[in-house]
Amino acid sequence: MKFFVDTADVDAIRELNDLGLLDGVTTNPSLIKKSGRNIIEVTKEICEIVSGPVSAEVTATDAADMIAEGRKLAKISGNIAVKVPLTLDGLKACKTLTDEGTMVNVTLCFSANQALLAAKAGATFISPFIGRLDDNSYDGLDLIQDIRTIYDNYGFETQILAASIRTVNHVKDCALIGADVMTAPPAVIKALANHVLTDKGLDAFLEDIKSAGIKIL
Ligand code: E4P
Repeated sequence: MKFFVDTADVDAIRELNDLGLLDGVTTNPSLIKKSGRNIIEVTKEICEIVSGPVSAEVTATDAADMIAEGRKLAKISGNIAVKVPLTLDGLKACKTLTDEGTMVNVTLCFSANQALLAAKAGATFISPFIGRLDDNSYDGLDLIQDIRTIYDNYGFETQILAASIRTVNHVKDCALIGADVMTAPPAVIKALANHVLTDKGLDAFLEDIKSAGIKIL
């Protein structure tokens, strides 16, 4: 499973990239707002840090303007994936931009039928939002499973990008289901390394290293 980080914070992106854990980045208008940066400038800087796909979202709601914005975003770097919302206009923009050779991430997906449409429009990525479904008493993981089944039934190549991830267990469950990609906030990605028994075991080893004076270098 590929790991994307869901942030426009360049310091956090650099830190995870230096750990060798990053396959790409997703941003959205709220994350751009949080960064306090100009969308073009911050997206360019992110593309210079990470070689994998960097999702940058359009602001328009009609297809013609989404296409124009998508073309401008795609010029920032060869690794831009233009993010469009899952509306009929977004699907139209997806088809046009995909036909021009641009990666497209169709976002704000909350149903299996929406994901089916995105695949038919040739999307590179479909972004089902797990956390926001869970927040509203649906089961976000059920949606990931349904999309996996549908895409496998018909051999769609659109990659399932599990989004709106809130917990480390979401990551594990998405991996078990077979999501192609997950995008999560930096804190969730770093928390994947945590285990109380790792900390306890390391403390015991460090005690023995100290008391026995074990040295390698
Ligand atoms: C995905 O691309 C979105 O940016 C993101 O995962 C949304 O997550 P949220 O529901 O935590 O805002």
